[in-house]
Amino acid sequence: MQLNAPLDMHLHLRDNEMLHNIAKASAETFAGALVMPNLVPPVSTKEEVVSYKKRIVDAIGNETFTPYMTLFFKPTYNRDFLEGVRDEIAAIKLYPAGITTNSEGGVSGFDAEELRPALEAMSDLGIPLCIHGETNGFVMDREAEFVSIYEKLAGAFPKLKIIMEHITTKESVAALDRYENLYATITVHHLLITLDDVAGGMLQPHLFCKPIAKRPEDREALLKVALEAHPKVMFGSDSAPHPKEAKEACGCAAGVFTAPIALQLLAELFENRGASLEKLQAFVSGNAQQIYGIKPLQKTVVLKKKPFRVPSSYSGVVPMFANEEIAYSLKEVIDGQPC
Ligand code: DOR
Ligand code: ZN
Repeated sequence: MQLNAPLDMHLHLRDNEMLHNIAKASAETFAGALVMPNLVPPVSTKEEVVSYKKRIVDAIGNETFTPYMTLFFKPTYNRDFLEGVRDEIAAIKLYPAGITTNSEGGVSGFDAEELRPALEAMSDLGIPLCIHGETNGFVMDREAEFVSIYEKLAGAFPKLKIIMEHITTKESVAALDRYENLYATITVHHLLITLDDVAGGMLQPHLFCKPIAKRPEDREALLKVALEAHPKVMFGSDSAPHPKEAKEACGCAAGVFTAPIALQLLAELFENRGASLEKLQAFVSGNAQQIYGIKPLQKTVVLKKKPFRVPSSYSGVVPMFANEEIAYSLKEVIDGQPC
């Protein structure tokens, strides 16, 4: 099975030693990824985004891989600043304050008028807004509660592309078709697991993430739009590495590390569900190219149906399905093939 120029439109690459250890896991099999800005401190100036991109490029070595950069949204961003940084970024990521890892400097309160100067300028400049859409309500209801905020923003800024990141609920899926300017990323883990897999038996820290996996009917709603490659959804792994000690701890960090096996898992899932390779290709690349208006470098990833035992760890980070067998293996990666 061949995939052309796969893209991961939501990825955490971290910094320093972790960046050096894990960047290759994505760069080997993806042609590019949208890189999240939630470092400490968050990436929020032009200098920071330029220098973070350079550190990423250094870490990936010779691989054919484009880091599509993001800034951490601040309501104070003005038109001059955004015009100056526009060419360095593919999107800006908005986090509600304190909702997840390193999001303390995010937005509190979603008053459309207060956000208007920044969002109007982004809309005029064609900079997409990616949002981690959760309220601080009851954990299972946070994303569904946020849908009214997505709708308020989508209605107030109809030309602004808003990407609902890592959606996990049927309510978010339903919102996609109500507003022309709403799009979504979906992770592979949310297509595979429900809350039962996280906490139904013995607690599984390596499956704990934000937003938390939801109910079977939510997963079915996600599967429907992913498997049909609905043109407004695209793959974003939200692969979020944390050291083993930070996951297997009292106070487990949120994040599932899937980067090295994401395409193999998607191949297996699409096959098991009878979805075509054409749909998988659209879900992992074509839709993102359309939505973001990007043209990735040529790269062909060849997968084969041969069991692969997932390693217990990648440089001290435990992946999803560690020590388990998955059905597809990576056969080869050919750079420079036509997309
Ligand atoms: O599970 C998560 N981990 N969700 C996020 O939103 C952030 C991420 C991280 O950075 O670890
Ligand atoms: Zn994320």
